[in-house]
Amino acid sequence: MGLPEGFRWGVATAAYQIEGAATEDGRGPSIWDTFSATPGRTRDGRTGEVACDHYHRWPEDVDLMAGLGIDTYRFSLSWTRVRPTGGGAANPKGLDFYDRLVDALLDRGIAPAATLYHWDLPQPLEDEGGWLNRDTAFRFAEFAYLAAERLADRVELWMTLNEPVVTTAYGYGFGVYAPGRALLLDAMPTAHNQLLAHGAAVTALRSRGVRTIGIANHYSPARPADPDSAADRAAAGAFDIFMNRLYTEPLLTGRYPDLSALGGEKLDIRDEDLAIIASPIDFLGVNYYQPTGVTAPAEGNPLPFDLAELSGHPVTGMGWPIVPDAFLELLRSLKERYGDRLPPLYITENGCSFPDEPGPDGAVDDASRIAYLDAHIAAMRTAVDEGVDVRGYYTWSLLDNFEWSEGYGPRFGLVHVDYATQQRTPKKSYAWYRDLIAASHG
Ligand code: FCB
Repeated sequence: MGLPEGFRWGVATAAYQIEGAATEDGRGPSIWDTFSATPGRTRDGRTGEVACDHYHRWPEDVDLMAGLGIDTYRFSLSWTRVRPTGGGAANPKGLDFYDRLVDALLDRGIAPAATLYHWDLPQPLEDEGGWLNRDTAFRFAEFAYLAAERLADRVELWMTLNEPVVTTAYGYGFGVYAPGRALLLDAMPTAHNQLLAHGAAVTALRSRGVRTIGIANHYSPARPADPDSAADRAAAGAFDIFMNRLYTEPLLTGRYPDLSALGGEKLDIRDEDLAIIASPIDFLGVNYYQPTGVTAPAEGNPLPFDLAELSGHPVTGMGWPIVPDAFLELLRSLKERYGDRLPPLYITENGCSFPDEPGPDGAVDDASRIAYLDAHIAAMRTAVDEGVDVRGYYTWSLLDNFEWSEGYGPRFGLVHVDYATQQRTPKKSYAWYRDLIAASHG
């Protein structure tokens, strides 16, 4: 067997991580502008103000994509370019940017795949409570409608939210990502409001004729630190609900998993909400990087789990364990859990960071990235052979970029970026991925 006919290869990016041009053409401030400008929040105080300057250099970046021979490009729309204060009228100049990008992609035979929300909430909405405020869900659906009004005739694949679990956990639970609120389980209302935002946006996109809609969820198989310990296994189960089921089960079954240990009573669930949340989707986006070690919570921890280091595996430049088997386990588990309810999958992110720098000859030899991607793509192929319906794979990322709180330290790109000069240098993995795609197309 092999990958299905029409399988699509791609690369993924996100607006705040690459665009820069933070105040240009009417773009308004998002929570990431505010957060990264706050001393002590990001490594070396770095921000996305300039990032990869993609807002100006996009033609060169589209050339790089064309050189890879990719079938599809996953990017995100900056909400505050399109609607600078989060509500109100659309900003035509912001939409023009994505309009031009989409046309250029189509000219090169690359199918655009747009994510509506990759963590850059308009700051004025955060000032009203952000994702803790139910109204944010409806502001999001309006933004989805405006984006589709302009782009739905040419953008085929749409994703509502990127990794809502990260917003809940890192953004509102622990405060290490924007908006930097450390509410622990009091962050849980953001789960319901994001799910509602997703469902309301699905409806808005459908009303504009969009046919292929999904979400890009983050998944991480839970590994109990001591598999013989019942307490560690219970903690791993609780982590699994939070990380892997909370944002999937309501979409596919119209029901929440058991949230009793996770502050489920804090969710403000109203009559029609679950029906909206379970609006049919056409694909499920899977972002996978690593499994997570989990242990029973220490005394006094209000959460039902603690995280533990997973030893015995090689690690990436960020110390993330490299475990391709966990990727296979994840893909199998999605099929096992949801059976016929599971829509086709797209791997919407998978990749790794290493401290890649050009050698004396100028080449960037990132053999470790090639090994990571090779092993994970092999795991995906095994899952497909076993009957998991995977339709495409996007590597994170085209370019080295702004890695959130880690600033410009980690490098995830197939293309190296020298941030002082904005020079792009394709790494060895770029040629490797190009060859893999060419071979797969036959
Ligand atoms: C994912 C994010 C993406 C990037 C990668 C490394 O969680 O969606 O923006 O930061 O991690």
